[in-house]
Amino acid sequence: MVQNLELNKKYKKKIRLAIIGGSFDSTIGKTHLRSLLSTNAYEIICGCFSRNKTKNKKNSKFYSLSKKKIYNTIKELLKHEYKNIDLALVLTPPKNRHKIYLELANRKVGIIAEKPFENNRKDAIKSFNLIRNKKIFFASTYNYLGYPAVMEIKHLIKNIGQIRNFVFEMPQQSSTFYKSVIKNWRTHDDNIPNLHLDLASHLLSMVYFFFDELPSEVNSFEQSNKIYKDNVYAWLKFKKFIGQFWYSKNSTGKNNELSIRIFGEKGSIEWNHSQTEQIIYCDNKGNKAILNRLSQNSKYLRDNELFTYSSGHPGGFLDAFINIYDFIAKSYHSKRIEPNILINLKTNLDIMKTLDKIHESAIKKTWKKVIL
Ligand SMILES: NC(=O)c1ccc[n+]([C@@H]2O[C@H](COP(=O)([O-])OP(=O)(O)OC[C@H]3O[C@@H](n4cnc5c(N)ncnc54)[C@H](O)[C@@H]3O)[C@@H](O)[C@H]2O)c1
Repeated sequence: MVQNLELNKKYKKKIRLAIIGGSFDSTIGKTHLRSLLSTNAYEIICGCFSRNKTKNKKNSKFYSLSKKKIYNTIKELLKHEYKNIDLALVLTPPKNRHKIYLELANRKVGIIAEKPFENNRKDAIKSFNLIRNKKIFFASTYNYLGYPAVMEIKHLIKNIGQIRNFVFEMPQQSSTFYKSVIKNWRTHDDNIPNLHLDLASHLLSMVYFFFDELPSEVNSFEQSNKIYKDNVYAWLKFKKFIGQFWYSKNSTGKNNELSIRIFGEKGSIEWNHSQTEQIIYCDNKGNKAILNRLSQNSKYLRDNELFTYSSGHPGGFLDAFINIYDFIAKSYHSKRIEPNILINLKTNLDIMKTLDKIHESAIKKTWKKVIL
């Protein structure tokens, strides 16, 4: 509880925010709103939340903003508000993000981008050059990196010796589940199919976070339902080890599961999204240990600052998102991107280039080199 009392003092000044996308009826808007408010580090000044004008204005209640602070276009928003905001949070679908980044960069407004950064390689390169040349603040919300257990894995990984191989899996069931309501844009595959953008981008953020590198070569199989790609197996070659991804929307019965298994010369590490507060650690002498929030020798799992409440009170997805926003606030104020957790601009571009090659390898039915 001490943490809550300290929240007011934690940051000298609130970061003034515009939000683009993230309407009350969007998938991810509510999670961002709750996380932002929980940090007490941000003030939402204005927004352009939805393409639908009626729905857009309805966000007045959702975001507790007066209707005159809700704009129908980004141009209009920036014209009236660019001096009143520090950063813009971009929560729109990935397609055509570069047009939004261009408007923001031209007004020198820094950017927080939901993943994935873009929806194709060409636009990603354009946006990367633009944001880098304008020298504006940039951070992204690869939220799985905000789980304390995921931070713990990064810390533990040196104990398992040279990495030999890993298996990351993210099976979901939205393409087969009878009650799924799928947003229109998610059913239109573009240069890089949405399945890669949606799920493999997360997996690659974790690859980069754990190993400080992305694969040098990739290969994959893709499967489609009648409308869009909904299942992928991918194989990844690195300088000294190999890895495998399985990500899917057709895995009936799998409800947003995510598992991480990493095997090294001296041990292995396993984490499952269904048990966010524990890591299974095995050494090569037959010992198996479970690290949790009470483990003396954990670093991040036992840090109460990263959780809303004490051990025994499951937090999970929202706490991880709040941690990401805390890291962003710290980075903004210190003018320094926290190492790896926020996935810097260059790595955002590299993730897009890697996704592009994973898709191309499936089309060409061959290994593809990833040139970053
Ligand atoms: N991190 C996660 O776990 C997670 C989960 C879900 C979605 N996402 C990401 O969040 C982003 C948004 O996804 P979603 O599922 O919330 O989409 P959504 O379709 O549910 O909502 C997007 C909203 O943005 C609005 N919008 C689109 N273009 C706009 C523009 N130019 N100006 C203003 N508003 C605009 C739409 O009208 C809509 O209200 C995607 O990049 C997606 O990959 C991330």
